[in-house]
Amino acid sequence: MSSIVVTGAAGFIGSHTVDKFLEAGYDVVGVDNFRTGHRENLDQAGKSEKFRLEEADCADPAQMNALLEKVKPEAVVHLAALVSVQESFADMELNFHLNVQATHAVAAAAQRAGTRRIVFASSAAVYGNQKMLPIKEEVPREPISPYGAAKLASEYLLRGYASTYQMTAVCNRYFNVFGPRQDPGSPYSGVISIFEKRFREGQPVTIFGNGRQTRDFISVHDVARANVLGAVGKVPGTCVQNICTGQETSLLDLMRIFGRFFPDHPAPEFREGRPGDIHQSFGSPVRARRTLNFQAEVDIGTALRELISGTPLRDATLEPRANLSRESF
Ligand code: UD1
Repeated sequence: MSSIVVTGAAGFIGSHTVDKFLEAGYDVVGVDNFRTGHRENLDQAGKSEKFRLEEADCADPAQMNALLEKVKPEAVVHLAALVSVQESFADMELNFHLNVQATHAVAAAAQRAGTRRIVFASSAAVYGNQKMLPIKEEVPREPISPYGAAKLASEYLLRGYASTYQMTAVCNRYFNVFGPRQDPGSPYSGVISIFEKRFREGQPVTIFGNGRQTRDFISVHDVARANVLGAVGKVPGTCVQNICTGQETSLLDLMRIFGRFFPDHPAPEFREGRPGDIHQSFGSPVRARRTLNFQAEVDIGTALRELISGTPLRDATLEPRANLSRESF
């Protein structure tokens, strides 16, 4: 039986995606160079005989060619990336290397290995600041960060491969993903992971800007399921879709939700807004229903409760299992 390759497997979204494939009965080869990934994220996957880990650099064509030639996967889910918008300003070279060149290396190796499908971790950052909300996929893409530009460039690269070699490229534009295993350890980390740590430690959080900026926060469990559907579900061909909830939450709303769990928490500190920061972002989830048969199922309150309590949500809460079983594709 051929396998699925997941790049960035030891990362936040990667490790949940690996778990979801294993739950659904697939053989998975995880690839990571541990630049930002953590081995302990793969503790659960490591218990499965169907999982193998390969330490390799996705941006290195020789390593990717050798690996994919050996595995000959039925699909590659390419999640390895530089994930921070702010870090892309601080190091444009690294952003280009990890968010464009690596996509090219993976796509070229997949094509040589005869892989038919690539799922790509794109981003809502490709849209920039949009006036028409919720954001639909067909609006002009106007990224305002090197990160957003690189994600968009990668989408186009993959389209080129798909149309030239009869491959299928599935570009999932994630909105703001959060959940267990997201690393709060750097100023570049996702806002919910930082807030969760600060609240738990009784420290005030910093809000950049007035806190009225909004995001469409989506649970990593939903995102992992969208990746599985993109790789092995029925799709109409090469496609691009928002992976979002359609719900808008401001940072001030987040403060209120956290406040319910931590009533005596100190007030936030406000600082100047960050460059390249999008003001208002929430997506239309309509297209993903058609292309992937995907709909987010975990609401933000439930997902935050999981994060704060450290108790994993039961599968029944997260997904209709039948939706993911091998037989259903
Ligand atoms: C995030 C993702 C990016 C994804 C994009 C899609 C991370 C690190 N980045 O970018 O990979 O492609 O969504 O929409 O997950 N903020 C604070 N205080 C903090 C930290 C952040 O006020 O301590 C603010 C930021 O200035 C921003 C908002 O919270 O306004 C969200 O920031 P962040 O979590 O870094 O996400 P995005 O920049 O939206």
